[in-house]
Amino acid sequence: MKILLAGATGTISSELLPQLHAAGHSVIGLTRSAGSAERLQAAGVQPVVADLMDADALLAALDGHHADGVIHQATAITRTPRFHRHLFATDALRDEGTRNLLRAANHLGARRFITQSFFLGYGWRDHGPAYLTEDHPFAELGHGPFDHHLRSLRSNEDQVLGAEGIHGVALRYGLFYGPERSTFMMMNLARRRQLPVPRPAATMHLIHVADAASATIAALDRGRAGHAYNIVDDQPVGMADYLNALAAAAGAPTPRRIPGWLLRATPYLHSILVRTQIRLDNSKAKRELDWTPKYPTYREGLASAAAALR
Ligand SMILES: NC(=O)c1ccc[n+]([C@@H]2O[C@H](COP(=O)([O-])OP(=O)(O)OC[C@H]3O[C@@H](n4cnc5c(N)ncnc54)[C@H](OP(=O)(O)O)[C@@H]3O)[C@@H](O)[C@H]2O)c1
Repeated sequence: MKILLAGATGTISSELLPQLHAAGHSVIGLTRSAGSAERLQAAGVQPVVADLMDADALLAALDGHHADGVIHQATAITRTPRFHRHLFATDALRDEGTRNLLRAANHLGARRFITQSFFLGYGWRDHGPAYLTEDHPFAELGHGPFDHHLRSLRSNEDQVLGAEGIHGVALRYGLFYGPERSTFMMMNLARRRQLPVPRPAATMHLIHVADAASATIAALDRGRAGHAYNIVDDQPVGMADYLNALAAAAGAPTPRRIPGWLLRATPYLHSILVRTQIRLDNSKAKRELDWTPKYPTYREGLASAAAALR
């Protein structure tokens, strides 16, 4: 298939591009910068320079192109989000950006559309010990500053899964880790003894970026129209255990402990590291996409990040 990839220069695309090529797909890669366009071209990608948030410019830049499918991986998470405002640009890409990209899909004649969604659409809160399946609804509004993110996550999925004439699939990725920017940053912080481990700590669900990419390829082939999939590894993880393991994998000393309430000064980070308890069931993705994570837990996956950092 010929695929338009939005977010072609981002973290997941560093894994996704080689996997798309290996599976025989050709790729049109979207970027806003001429420098990145040159790098994409060198990697065998046909670059298109446009801003996803400018619908008219996007359509003009894509004029004359054709594609069979579109993958939306554009985010604007340039650093670990600490405050809610750090996610507002990503929220816009999930709402207005998705709308523009769906228009682009129609313009290109593309009939398949895969969108990056997020497991915390179920809500940044304590979900108890149950493993949530995709039948569990995304969180309702009424969660103060989280509503901004919840609204955009819903909008992204509703637009893609309900789009007329489009075979739309949403991938609810867990927290990315692996040979990628935020994992390297945390490993470097741990080496400088600047990575604190809160007590109590949140329970999260991770996905190695290589496995997020392989699930995306599987969804392109086998994702059911109008369906969402939990793309997480096989075990939820206590964030204290994860941060300690990440420091150990980086050869850093055991991180200092801090009381969780100290992170309330950075509310978004507090929700990710301290407050939220969430466990997800990934059996629908395994069954329907015929996908298995190569790294079933962070214990297997962290070594690849540490090796890449060296
Ligand atoms: N599930 C998760 O845990 C999750 C999900 C996403 C990201 N993250 C984390 O966030 C950090 C940064 O990730 P990242 O490198 O993918 O994000 P990023 O640096 O924000 O880049 C994302 C991609 O989106 C594109 N993009 C952003 N705004 C755009 C716009 N207005 N129009 C067109 N394209 C646009 C960028 O393209 P250009 O800059 O080339 O234009 C880039 O290819 C990573 O550490 C990653 O792990 C985590």
